[in-house]
Amino acid sequence: MTMLLTNIKTLIGCHAPLLPLRGDDLASLNAIENAFVLVEDGLVADFGAMQDLSWKVPHPPKEVYDCSNRMVLPCWCDSHTHLVFAGSRENEFVDKIRGLSYAEIAARGGGILNSAARLNETSKDELFCLAWQRLKQITVTGTGSVEIKSGYGLSVEGELKMLRVIKKLKEKSSLQIKSSFLAAHTYPSEYRENHEGYIKLILEEMLPVIVRENLADYIDVFCEQGFFSIEEMISVCKVAARHGLKPKLHINQLNSIGGLQAAIALNALSVDHLEVMTGEDVKDLAASDTIGTLLPTAAYFLRMPFQPARKLMDAGAAIALASDYNPGSSPSGNMQGVVSMACIGMRMLPAEAINAATINGAFAMEVADSAGSIAIDKRADLIVTKEIPSVDYLPYAFGEYHIARVMIKGEWQ
Ligand code: NIG
Ligand code: FE
Repeated sequence: MTMLLTNIKTLIGCHAPLLPLRGDDLASLNAIENAFVLVEDGLVADFGAMQDLSWKVPHPPKEVYDCSNRMVLPCWCDSHTHLVFAGSRENEFVDKIRGLSYAEIAARGGGILNSAARLNETSKDELFCLAWQRLKQITVTGTGSVEIKSGYGLSVEGELKMLRVIKKLKEKSSLQIKSSFLAAHTYPSEYRENHEGYIKLILEEMLPVIVRENLADYIDVFCEQGFFSIEEMISVCKVAARHGLKPKLHINQLNSIGGLQAAIALNALSVDHLEVMTGEDVKDLAASDTIGTLLPTAAYFLRMPFQPARKLMDAGAAIALASDYNPGSSPSGNMQGVVSMACIGMRMLPAEAINAATINGAFAMEVADSAGSIAIDKRADLIVTKEIPSVDYLPYAFGEYHIARVMIKGEWQ
């Protein structure tokens, strides 16, 4: 299939960096005004300025789509979600309004344990259908690549069920999907006093099956007071690494306990959340190759201070933005909302936020060779905006929906 997008007012993200963007590079969108994109067999075959089009495309393509007055940007790469879950948790939302904290709700068996109980009662097929609907919904809002975690099973059967659902999503969906094994999300009640026993279950009962069936790309641990300690995170990650699973970790969401430094020493691909960061944490992350994935909607939803994006960028850290789509702390997978919130709440420039939600998100899930920017031979995962006055308008008019059409692998959705 060949398709030509013409008269694009601004084509955003025309770059193919070899490493995640940092510092000033993060603020540059590498845009082309009055541009075209040629799509062949699901990939970007060519792009450039309209004035160069005639000699570049000798044979008229089958389909031409006129993007006059509209912008085109690469689809979002949402590198942190928990979008396989059994049911919503708006009752806890109301409890939080009444004054309970996230930790208090977790301590009385709500939170992750609540989601785990429901997931274990739900069939694989039903879970797949629910997750499929959510995938469709995030596709419409412009996501082209997404990472999905387990972590609501907390039992051998439940964790494998989740990961098998994610595997089926990978097979059936045209989105690019990565999966992370997050059994170390919280201790199930029967193991509350027996941490060693649960870690043994993770490493000896779950991991071998996951490796055999090729169910996960990454290992994740919620390293936090009241959840998994640094030592526990290290022991899980070390064994997982022997099976080729790199760490992508939940770090510094509620407290700074030294998990960030331990994650860097484990060569984590990313450390995610980072609501609570000391000056030392900021410096250490900036000096490392690990990407800091910021989840502003989770901070907003839990009424936490926003992640210190400005400090991290000024220090030279590589940062990405993701939705954390989950029923407990971020019941939304809308990346346009994430980008707006990053600009409003964290003082990221629109260009910085867009790069963090596209190319740096792609690096944070190792799909930068095929997604996250407009480049020849990358997937044609494209967002066509409605008629908007400028790219800055996208996060600025935060309550409006600016996407006209989404193309995934060369197909309109
Ligand atoms: O990323 N912090 C840990 N995990 C999720 C929330 C999980 C839940 O509350 O269901 C998060 O915010
Ligand atoms: Fe998360």
